[in-house]
Amino acid sequence: MIIKSTVTIQAVSKSFGKQSVLRNINLTIKKGEIFGLLGPSGSGKTTLVKTLIGLDTPDNGSITVLDNKMPNLKVMERIGYMAQADALYQELTAMENLDFFATLYGIKGQKKKEQIEASASLVGLTNDLNKPVSKFSGGMKRRLSICIALLNEPDLLILDEPTVGIDPVLRQNIWRTFEQLKEKGTSIIVTTHVMDEAEKCDTLGMIRDGQLIAVDTPKNLKEACHASSMEEAFLYYGGMPYEN
Ligand SMILES: Nc1ncnc2c1ncn2[C@@H]1O[C@H](COP(=O)(O)OP(=O)(O)OP(=O)(O)O)[C@@H](O)[C@H]1O
Ligand SMILES: [Mg+2]
Repeated sequence: MIIKSTVTIQAVSKSFGKQSVLRNINLTIKKGEIFGLLGPSGSGKTTLVKTLIGLDTPDNGSITVLDNKMPNLKVMERIGYMAQADALYQELTAMENLDFFATLYGIKGQKKKEQIEASASLVGLTNDLNKPVSKFSGGMKRRLSICIALLNEPDLLILDEPTVGIDPVLRQNIWRTFEQLKEKGTSIIVTTHVMDEAEKCDTLGMIRDGQLIAVDTPKNLKEACHASSMEEAFLYYGGMPYEN
């Protein structure tokens, strides 16, 4: 069986001034999987996903996304990206925000209406579309941001800490949405520092100090080091002691 890759990262490094933020990253992300990038604050997760889509340029190495060398504008159109900070117009309603971004993506007419309805329904915002975003809770804003990333029916969805500030029930709903999208063939990359969320991914990449310290299924990662939790496994691969 040929497993097609969605993302191939080869020998990618990146520094900000004297600080080495990504160190020789090599990684292949398979088509149609949910890939989690797990690492503590400042480990380089956001920088890595930004280099994937061309928002940041690596100093060395090469990146291929959906069979094209990045950066590539055509490929960008097939990616849905949700940044770590919400980029929403507070004074506009959710619907106006969606309308704005859909137009920006070049989605028009009936298709626009359908896409907005479908995406809003996936994140459970159908009944809140006419409220101004300034009246939204933190979790609603996150969901609206996910909704915007879904508008162009991306082949690859990249979400930077999508469930921060979202309660456990909604978080479950959102993960169900990711599973549904995966069933439809969408590849998904999620960054997180939440261990239980990491366990839901098909493949997990653990990142620390800009280095990829382990990549495998959550189950294999735990079994290989006899860890009873993902947290223990993370400490093990990071070369840190833990109490067993
Ligand atoms: N534009 C920038 N200029 C200088 N340093 C930066 C810049 N962007 C990121 N960094 C530094 O690079 C390191 C990695 O940052 P990054 O945002 O990738 O981490 P992260 O894993 O996403 O963290 P968090 O979980 O807090 O979002 C940090 O030390 C950060 O200060
Ligand atoms: Mg980040």
